[in-house]
Amino acid sequence: MIAIISAMQEEIQALLNELKNKSTTIKGMRKYYVGDLFGKKVVLVFSRWGKVASAVTTTQLINDFPIDEIIFTGVAGSISKNLNIGDIVIGKNLYQHDLNASPLYNQFEIPLLNKNALSTVNTTKLENAVQKFLTTFNTYIHSEDIKRFHITNPKMVLGDIASGDQFISDTKKIESLNHLLPTAVCVEMEGAAVAQVCFEYDIPFSIIRTISDKANDNATIDFPKFAKAVASNYALGILKNYFA
Ligand code: ADE
Repeated sequence: MIAIISAMQEEIQALLNELKNKSTTIKGMRKYYVGDLFGKKVVLVFSRWGKVASAVTTTQLINDFPIDEIIFTGVAGSISKNLNIGDIVIGKNLYQHDLNASPLYNQFEIPLLNKNALSTVNTTKLENAVQKFLTTFNTYIHSEDIKRFHITNPKMVLGDIASGDQFISDTKKIESLNHLLPTAVCVEMEGAAVAQVCFEYDIPFSIIRTISDKANDNATIDFPKFAKAVASNYALGILKNYFA
């Protein structure tokens, strides 16, 4: 069974709408939706925001469902000059940008794991699914939403992700992250936590992030609207290709 996690209900809504033979279980304030998505057995859940919320949700999934693979999908803020609203990041290495146990450990090092970042599985199949999706993305997103959010020629980037329990809307913070984590292209609040749980339980993990903002003064766009109208439909189109 494949687990698909988002932080917000709006980010997973398009997948929920397509889920067949649905049954639900509630545990720890989370609703787990089991069913068939494009012919594959899946469990869908929105974890709520942040590293703690997403780590407990991931642990619950792994312990209570026969999970073969976890895919996280949602939005992120760009910290790279090359990324625009509507571009897609497929995560490679995931850092916790707010983890710092120095001087006992190096900044970003996860105590006892001896690692600064955790990696996703081989993403070739997912990258192909995204490339195929990008040729048809305007069949998934309404033209008024493409205009409203100024999406033009979206592209895919394979890159590192910085996660932390902070919504970033500050160019000084972006500069600092660019300096400390030069390979990170976007920021969000869950990915590295899910990656750590998956690493510790030996579950293959991958992550798809749609750029919703540039982590600057304008970062507080209509977030739920973007998540529902854009990111959720991106996830639907990409996973349709991925499961085919
Ligand atoms: N998710 C989407 N945009 C974000 C931002 N600017 N900071 C943190 N998480 C985000």
